Amino acid sequence: MKKKNEESDQFGLVSVYLVLLFLIAIAIFLFSSSSNSTTSHQSFLRCLLDDHHIPPSMITTRDSNSFSSLLNFSIQNPRIYGNTYPTLIVSPTSESHVQHAITCAKKHRIHMRVRSGGHDYEGLSYTSTLGPFILLDLFNLRSISIDVTSNTAWVQSGATLGELYHAISEKAGPNVAFPAGVCPTVGIGGHLSGGGLGTLVRAFGLAADQVVDARLVNANGEIQNRKSMGEGLFWAIRGGGCCFGIILSFKVTLVQVPPNVTVFSASRTLNQGATKLVTKWQNVAHELDRRLFIRVVLVPDEDEEGSKTVKATFNSLFLGSKAELLPLMGVSFPELGLREEDCTEMSWIKSVLYFSGYLSGGKNESALTERGVVDPFFAPFKAKSDFVKEPVSEQGWDNIWKWFSEENEFLIVILDPFGGRMDEISESETPFPHRNGSLYNLQYMVKWDVAEGSELTGKHLNWTKRFYEFMAPYVSKNPRAAYYNYRDLDLGRNEEGANSYLTANVWGRRYFKDNFRRLAEVKSEVDPDNFFRNEQSVPPLFHSGK
Ligand SMILES: Cc1cc2nc3c(=O)[nH]c(=O)nc-3n(C[C@H](O)[C@H](O)[C@H](O)COP(=O)(O)OP(=O)(O)OC[C@H]3O[C@@H](n4cnc5c(N)ncnc54)[C@H](O)[C@@H]3O)c2cc1C
Ligand SMILES: *[C@@H]1O[C@H](CO)[C@@H](O)[C@H](O)[C@H]1NC(C)=O
Ligand SMILES: *[C@@H]1O[C@H](CO)[C@@H](O)[C@H](O)[C@H]1NC(C)=O
Ligand SMILES: *[C@@H]1O[C@H](CO)[C@@H](O)[C@H](O)[C@H]1NC(C)=O
Ligand SMILES: *[C@@H]1O[C@H](CO)[C@@H](O)[C@H](O)[C@H]1NC(C)=O
Ligand SMILES: *[C@@H]1O[C@H](CO)[C@@H](O)[C@H](O)[C@H]1NC(C)=O
Repeated sequence: MKKKNEESDQFGLVSVYLVLLFLIAIAIFLFSSSSNSTTSHQSFLRCLLDDHHIPPSMITTRDSNSFSSLLNFSIQNPRIYGNTYPTLIVSPTSESHVQHAITCAKKHRIHMRVRSGGHDYEGLSYTSTLGPFILLDLFNLRSISIDVTSNTAWVQSGATLGELYHAISEKAGPNVAFPAGVCPTVGIGGHLSGGGLGTLVRAFGLAADQVVDARLVNANGEIQNRKSMGEGLFWAIRGGGCCFGIILSFKVTLVQVPPNVTVFSASRTLNQGATKLVTKWQNVAHELDRRLFIRVVLVPDEDEEGSKTVKATFNSLFLGSKAELLPLMGVSFPELGLREEDCTEMSWIKSVLYFSGYLSGGKNESALTERGVVDPFFAPFKAKSDFVKEPVSEQGWDNIWKWFSEENEFLIVILDPFGGRMDEISESETPFPHRNGSLYNLQYMVKWDVAEGSELTGKHLNWTKRFYEFMAPYVSKNPRAAYYNYRDLDLGRNEEGANSYLTANVWGRRYFKDNFRRLAEVKSEVDPDNFFRNEQSVPPLFHSGK
């Protein structure tokens, strides 16, 4: 008995030793891996400060008091809070600072994210699941210079759409505009490199379609313009998204608009015939005079009796007067019953305030230069997108409406019509392929109350996925296309290694169709080591093997 006990004691002791050894090994492993990344991040810091003389004020480390407000400053989706954070933030004030940051990051093998306006739907500009990283925040690189004689502008990446719109209105007057997104706080860097669509899309195409030159820092830390980067890379950065280099600025062509445009918003609930109107809209919106843009915004609502319904708002910009618009509507879309009193004439810049909700929020043009989080509907969200090639039937819409009345889910669906200029540009002219034959873009956005806390986030994400699956029969197929600027990580993520192109092809074809392969070819040429990367960046077609 005693012997047995001793034996088992000894056995117990041995296992205690083994457990201890195991714990020590883990501790050493953890310590060394964390200190590895800490030392390389420290070497990176010394490289910037000592070797390249970057002013210390441009670097914000995690222990600084201003770290969290600087990081939060342009986070537009509070769902992303609490994901991994950068070890430090570099805020360059000149082009050469960007070069130095890349040179040092490459030398010390530091992963880097770049942020312009911070509107990435999945937060890829300031969070990473690919290990420790630093954030290069371009918000100080936001100068805008407008040349009224050539009707062009050089805009730095860190400027916002609102700053550009404001500068155009101040310097070029009421006849000049720029076709891009409706939300003024969106950054130029992410928006133009991913496409960019708004109320002028039918008249002039995407924001990326207006780009005539650009300056970027490539993976070797060199500054290039259109001429020195070559047409392949210049093609890729006009819609091909992240990670071909860090774009410093774009040169864009501005467009001509009349001194007054006309806007209207006409809302109809299901009882007021919304189903028939939306069904009809699909057949006319893409074929209208290209000066006329009518989008539809669908939200859940309650009618007078307090029962659930859907509200469809026909939200329009017309590049002309009321007097021209009314007969056009009378011929093409009389069912809407648009009246003169529904329409308002205003300058184009006012229409920017109108579409962004700034006008109804009592804001004037000076608000366009406000940065950071100014969205009155700021709340956690998940979004997805589709393109529609065949009109959905009335029966189809009736089925879709059921999703709008689900408890605790706030769904916004936006239908942006194409046609016009979009039909004239071939699928391969830029990386954005959803042109000819797409009637409209569909965006689904599910929002919830920030006060719910993060526990319920999974429930909303699941609901959004189910709704998206339900929509499959109504939208484009093979591939089921999506808009890159409405980034959706459910479509797929990159994997490291030799098969990364094939893995990426799954999500890549959905954003870029056949252009995806050409994007990967360009990437092989300009960044074969995949230095610039994220969870959904175009990988090199031929992996360098590093
Ligand atoms: C409230 C809201 C409204 C929106 N409205 C519209 C709309 O009307 N129309 C539309 O088309 N889209 C719209 N979007 C989507 C928007 O176009 C994209 O999210 C766009 O990528 C945002 O650009 P950013 O610079 O603000 O984002 P960021 O989050 O800073 O960047 C987005 C991506 O681009 C990369 N990137 C940023 N800057 C650079 C650079 N200088 N060089 C290289 N890569 C860079 C980032 O690393 C990241 O991968 C909206 C988004 C939000 C949140
Ligand atoms: C930044 O956002 C996080 C997450 O909501 C919050 O905990 C933190 O207090 C914010 N920091 C500042 C300075 O606003
Ligand atoms: C533009 O519309 C406003 C408001 O209706 C009007 O006062 C102004 O005269 C119009 N300007 C032009 C050039 O038509
Ligand atoms: C615009 O709004 C700001 C802030 O609300 C105000 O200070 C300014 O005077 C306004 N400008 C004009 C031209 O109305
Ligand atoms: C658009 O599609 C039509 C019909 O398929 C075709 O005739 C036309 O050439 C296409 N235009 C472009 C620019 O691809
Ligand atoms: C979401 O769906 C997944 C897979 O169907 C399931 O495992 C998970 O529990 C769901 N999460 C929530 C919060 O409902």
